[in-house]
Amino acid sequence: MKLLTGNSNKVLSKKISKFLKSKLINSSIRKFADGEIYVEINENIRGNSIFIIQSMASPANDNLMELLLCIDALKRSSAKNITAVIPYFGYARQDRKVVPRTSISAKLVSNLITKAGADRVVTVDLHAGQIQGFFDIPVDNLFATPIFGRHAKKNIKSKNIICVAPDVGGTERARALGKYLNANLAIVDKRRPAPGKSKVMNVIGNVRDKTCIIVDDIIDSGGTIVNAAKALKDRGAREVYVYITHGVLSGEAVQKIKKSVIKKLVITDSIDNGERVKKARNIEVLTISNLMGEAIKRISNSTSVSDLFK
Ligand code: R5P
Repeated sequence: MKLLTGNSNKVLSKKISKFLKSKLINSSIRKFADGEIYVEINENIRGNSIFIIQSMASPANDNLMELLLCIDALKRSSAKNITAVIPYFGYARQDRKVVPRTSISAKLVSNLITKAGADRVVTVDLHAGQIQGFFDIPVDNLFATPIFGRHAKKNIKSKNIICVAPDVGGTERARALGKYLNANLAIVDKRRPAPGKSKVMNVIGNVRDKTCIIVDDIIDSGGTIVNAAKALKDRGAREVYVYITHGVLSGEAVQKIKKSVIKKLVITDSIDNGERVKKARNIEVLTISNLMGEAIKRISNSTSVSDLFK
């Protein structure tokens, strides 16, 4: 078994490599003057099982293309099998036609990864579980819930916790953390009047005097979470914590969070946010390196991955 990293999140790849005590494959991934990507594997990998680690974070298109070219290079170098380890699976939010004449990007990206030559995919908190069905190869969708649950149990002392889904689509995720923390569930009725804009219509459930924990898969512009947190406070919530797996954090998101009523936003390192979040007093980053490393180990040894979540 060998590990290869793309350029999108080398910090996480190095942590996974340390966990597995397995060096990263020597490779050159660089760009031509016009921006085209060039991938070269600098060591023999013939007959090896290879795990290529690459998130589809910003710049999403470059990182996706890098992943596809890495898979292609591995296939052409006679790897025995190739697992695409994608800590953040981008292009997942368009998983169906919500309005006519739109693309289904999650399906196209799934086809591209398979066509490039991946034999298996490992990812974390897919935007929608059914995206697994867009692939005809095995997909292991890992969950950050246990990591968040342990952190919340240790750091949030309140006895009056309620887990909150920031929209109807996030209900299952919030319920899973609620089960872990033995807490009830509330749901924010969010609408999107225009792409990238969010509006809270209502909160289903009583949040008065409660410590609210909002759970979501992605924070992008921050609009969903900042508006949801304000709506909860307006309805009498005592404090609002937020746990989100993928810190996309585009544009002014970090500033918005800093200025918001959110007591703490906890994200994972599925996306490398570098120095950007370090100065934000109310943002904390937890690593998923051990979770990913353990899953890779289990796949490599043909033992159960789902047992990780029992
Ligand atoms: C939507 O269904 C997702 O789960 C997130 O709630 C959404 O992508 C967050 O976007 P933003 O931070 O831009 O509101």
